[in-house]
Amino acid sequence: SRQIAVPTAPMGWASWNSFAAAIDYDVIKQQVDAFVAAGLPDAGYKYINIDEGWWQGTRDGAGNITVDESEWPGGMKAIADYIHSKGLKAGIYTDAGKDGCGYYYPTGRPAAPGSGSEGHYDQDMLQFSQWGFDFVKVDWCGGDAEGLDAATTYKSISDAVARATATTGRPLTLSICNWGYQNTWNWAPGLAPMYRTSTDIIFWGNSPSQTNMLSNFDQGLHPLAQHTGYYNDPDMLMVGMSGFTAAQNRTHMNLWAISGAPLLAGNNLAGMSTETANILKNPEVIAVDQDARGLQGVKVAEDSSGLQVYGKVLSGQGNRAVVLMNRTSSAQNITVRWSDLGLTNANATVRDLWARADVGSYGTSYTASVPAGGSVMLTVTGGTEQSASTYTGTASFTGV
Ligand code: DGJ
Repeated sequence: SRQIAVPTAPMGWASWNSFAAAIDYDVIKQQVDAFVAAGLPDAGYKYINIDEGWWQGTRDGAGNITVDESEWPGGMKAIADYIHSKGLKAGIYTDAGKDGCGYYYPTGRPAAPGSGSEGHYDQDMLQFSQWGFDFVKVDWCGGDAEGLDAATTYKSISDAVARATATTGRPLTLSICNWGYQNTWNWAPGLAPMYRTSTDIIFWGNSPSQTNMLSNFDQGLHPLAQHTGYYNDPDMLMVGMSGFTAAQNRTHMNLWAISGAPLLAGNNLAGMSTETANILKNPEVIAVDQDARGLQGVKVAEDSSGLQVYGKVLSGQGNRAVVLMNRTSSAQNITVRWSDLGLTNANATVRDLWARADVGSYGTSYTASVPAGGSVMLTVTGGTEQSASTYTGTASFTGV
């Protein structure tokens, strides 16, 4: 059987969900400090991503981005340096079009005409890399409004990112943010390690909603696109934000992990509860997300509407992650069958990743009671691969 280890999906924190455009050096520094104090780096989180709002679209006569130093003393290099001083990686943001999202959807700042990188891809990517950034998210508000072709546009941006990296010697990781428009999953793998598959879980100013979280998860399932280090991105996390219960936060993590999605926390880390921190840091759930094969889980059974079983092939032989998801409004038993996971009927160990305990050894299936709207996350390990599926890839694990 093949064992393929690929770069895993990025993990970190991004500023948009909690701060929108209200960011400056002090806000980001406070989040960096809270990120470190909460132990997120030890759990695998490493990016601090500055999203929209750091720049209002101004350039000098040579076309170089100019930054308001009353908000960013020392310019953007200073905050990148601060992030690096904590052993972390720094992310920044722009738009593929002429005008960025702040122009089309103002969020408390003056509209920002010109706050996109169109016409400046090489110049801006090189600038970001020279400032010390390791990651750049490129949004699509301007690109969409101008009717640009997404595949060719992001190819140009990806090429500019590669040239910037070659010039500075600092790897710059591209995050494509065109919301699944123009079937992103068909052309983005190969251009960027992560690419959004849907619009935002929550539009700024609206209440977080589990319905939207579930819908983003569903829209992010493109298992054949996810391979060799390219990840479907169903959006930054809402874990720990008001409106989500602890159980909903756990379900959010379970679904992102079975999906193998990027894990970019979006909550305000200053004052985060221990409960939320522990949900974000569950090492067993993170291990499923970050599994070395980098595959996406698929739905393998839905015996009755809303009672769903998701399975993900993990590294090694006969190892699976499972989410039992109850989308109905009453508690229900959900069964995962080994035959649906590509395993033979032979004993395998079942572990509950939130109880952090083995629940036993089972030969054909396992059944758990799952609360209304909730989920259970398991691993099934030490099973026996079905002979036809000595594992070669997601195609042999087609799901339903
Ligand atoms: C739309 C993106 O999908 C969001 O993640 C965020 O970056 C906003 N734009 C910023 O305006």
